[in-house]
Amino acid sequence: MSQHILTAVAWPYANGPRHIGHVSGFGVPSDIFSRYQRMAGNKVLMVSGTDEHGTPIQVQADKEGLTARELADRYNRVIAEDLRALGLSYDLFTRTTTGNHYAVAQEIFKGLHANGYIFPKTTMGAISPSTGRTLPDRYIEGTCPICGFDGARGDQCDNCGNQLDPVQLINPVSRINGEKPVFVETEHFMLDLPAFAEVLATWLRSKQGDWRPNVLKFALNLLGDLQPRAITRDLDWGVPIPLDGWRDQPNKRLYVWFDAVIGYLSASIEWARRSGDPEAWRRWWQNPDARSYYFMGKDNIVFHAEIWPALLLGYNGQGASDGTPGALGALNLPSEVVSSEFLTMEGRKFSSSRQVVIYVRDFLSRYDADALRYYIAVAGPESQDTDFTWSEFLNRNNGELVAAWGNLVNRSISMAAKNFGAVPEGRDLTDADRALLERSRAAFPVVGAELARSRFKNATTEAFDVIREANRYLADQEPWKIKDDPERVGSILHVALQVVDDAKTLLTPVLPSSSNKIHAMLGGTGVWSGMPEVREVDEEGGRSYPIITGSYEGQARWESVPIRPGVPLSPPTPLFTKLDPKIVKEELSRLGE
Ligand code: MF3
Ligand code: ZN
Repeated sequence: MSQHILTAVAWPYANGPRHIGHVSGFGVPSDIFSRYQRMAGNKVLMVSGTDEHGTPIQVQADKEGLTARELADRYNRVIAEDLRALGLSYDLFTRTTTGNHYAVAQEIFKGLHANGYIFPKTTMGAISPSTGRTLPDRYIEGTCPICGFDGARGDQCDNCGNQLDPVQLINPVSRINGEKPVFVETEHFMLDLPAFAEVLATWLRSKQGDWRPNVLKFALNLLGDLQPRAITRDLDWGVPIPLDGWRDQPNKRLYVWFDAVIGYLSASIEWARRSGDPEAWRRWWQNPDARSYYFMGKDNIVFHAEIWPALLLGYNGQGASDGTPGALGALNLPSEVVSSEFLTMEGRKFSSSRQVVIYVRDFLSRYDADALRYYIAVAGPESQDTDFTWSEFLNRNNGELVAAWGNLVNRSISMAAKNFGAVPEGRDLTDADRALLERSRAAFPVVGAELARSRFKNATTEAFDVIREANRYLADQEPWKIKDDPERVGSILHVALQVVDDAKTLLTPVLPSSSNKIHAMLGGTGVWSGMPEVREVDEEGGRSYPIITGSYEGQARWESVPIRPGVPLSPPTPLFTKLDPKIVKEELSRLGE
């Protein structure tokens, strides 16, 4: 049965190009998942965009001598191009500075307010004594009052995961210039998180056995200490607060995280409008059978497993003080929060400022997108913190992609092309022939089940087991040694080509570009698996901006399709590039090692 599946991918801050740590957390996993779901016959809506408000943008803009809007315009474009080049199949990748996003974010705020889940409060805000400007929470550092960790930020402690208020920090200092902030009274709106304690607990407990254990444990832990949380900030860059007396205040804006998570909904609405059916988004948000999967790195869990569900519950009128759904109608909660762990680089934390970084763009200027996607699928931070090393990248590329997979494709097609010029017939199959064909067919439900649960490592390993068995089969059968029985040679190559075709299908979610090439090499026509494109669109009001979109309804189906004898074959071109071991040294020296 075909299901509606929303793939909600974390929104990268438009404050710089993306590095491979970012895309291994949210990007590649969400794309593998979406491509698989489409192949399995489901209706996928994959949305995201750049996160363009708040202090992360303002601070970088100050550094680069640009306005926040100029900075966001610059990196929105860069990031859209990075993500497209990786082949990420967004139905819509947009941005948070569109009129549509402002309207939807304000609608959610008003709905929560009308249902009584938002209230004003006078709080203490930090300002920088030297500039007189507001000091954003995450730019204040100090000792965590809960666990004693030294590098806690004003918004959150990365050591114990608790949300903090800057006033709670012991010995607070500004991360911008080291001075001690002063705290002054300021009025803000608070989200009444305690009003959702019970519904959130019931909801999260129902996910036991379904979500990755680390994610669920982290989320359940957060419930122990639910405090009202400020959802507005003293800032001039962001979505205005949609209430009389607040709307026109130049220095009060919605908190960036409040508007950003709403992006999943606003992007779905924008996608529907662009598709020509403005109500189409409802099929993913209001249909009780629809499923939604949110992909991110673990520092985002609190916002997706606690705050976003609370916003949805409040808008629906499902918290402790009830209420009625807002104008958009009741909205679905996440089915799963799929969070990855952290990726480090050669044993160190990624850091753009300390040059411990490899940007997607630079990576792709030297290596293929599929090589990176493969690495992330088999060796990414799926369920534990993981280190990226260039030597592992080299070994996996040369040993697995080139020597195992590329070689199987290459020798099967080239032998068949040379001896027959076409896909040969498979006649009088032996037990060994049948066993391999059966092994390959049987991999579909197994690999599919792993992909559906976002277990990319298991899925890829299982697909590669089929490849290894096929290589063993060729080594055993030695078709190149058979001189007097062309029919038997044809049968062996027929079996090998069938498994090549199957494995290219099994690997399409992970390696879409090379699978497209194999599709063509085996005589396929038309698009096998669609690739994303960047398109320039106009916003009402004249500004134009790039979106990622595409039509992904190719021929790719999650099933073994019998290859057709007689289809002409030409000698293949290499699929993957064998890397020189000296790249390891070169890359390490780029990192300053
Ligand atoms: N910009 C945030 C980050 O990079 C992620 C935002 S995801 C959102 O950590 F969708 F919720 F906005
Ligand atoms: Zn702490």
